Amino acid sequence: MTAPLICPSILASDFAKLGAEVAALEAAGADWIHVDVMDGHFVPNLTIGPDVVKALRPHTTLPFDVHLMVAPVDPWLEAYRNAGADVLTVHPESGPHLHRTLGRIRQLGAKAGIVFNPGTPLNILEDVIDLVDLVLIMSVNPGFGGQSFIDSSLRKIAGARRLIDAAGSHAHLQVDGGVTSANAAACVAAGADALVAGSFVFKGGPDAYAANIAALKSA
Ligand code: DX5
Ligand code: ZN
Repeated sequence: MTAPLICPSILASDFAKLGAEVAALEAAGADWIHVDVMDGHFVPNLTIGPDVVKALRPHTTLPFDVHLMVAPVDPWLEAYRNAGADVLTVHPESGPHLHRTLGRIRQLGAKAGIVFNPGTPLNILEDVIDLVDLVLIMSVNPGFGGQSFIDSSLRKIAGARRLIDAAGSHAHLQVDGGVTSANAAACVAAGADALVAGSFVFKGGPDAYAANIAALKSA
């Protein structure tokens, strides 16, 4: 089995030192930088605007994987793409025309991701699988870092893997929320090839990032 991509969520970083944080993550072996964008409306928290993403862009060459927890999401796609996002991931609940939204993301030259909350059924995926480059399974309810992994997410990861493979898609299958070295192997066994982790990667401070990332990769 190939090692999963590790996508640290900068939600758990020191916001006073964001530029240094993303550079440290790159040096520590991260594959993508996961940026959690929250609007205080779609989810009960408020985080990172496009200007912050733009300011971070020169500090790393790693892809920016931008998870948009914003509704309506369409008005923000271009701003985050222009700010340097490589992947834009949207919730089906964040706009009335998911098919159009995913098409728009690709039209902007970004990779398109779709994200499923713990309570969102996977069947939507069949209708848009040809338009997605990444499927993200939330293993917590979105809004905050530091929550516990919901075990039934493993079934959902396996279900998403079946749908992706049945469609002959090469989309990445990513997991987000409460990921640690204790559940990373189960996520990969269920079919995930990319892991988002906030609290786990950042615990112990910059000196620990490399070991924490390695622990997830080798799990
Ligand atoms: C939750 C976010 C996650 C979260 C991950 O809404 O999408 O990316 O911050 O943080 P941990 O790994 O601490 O659960
Ligand atoms: Zn996220």
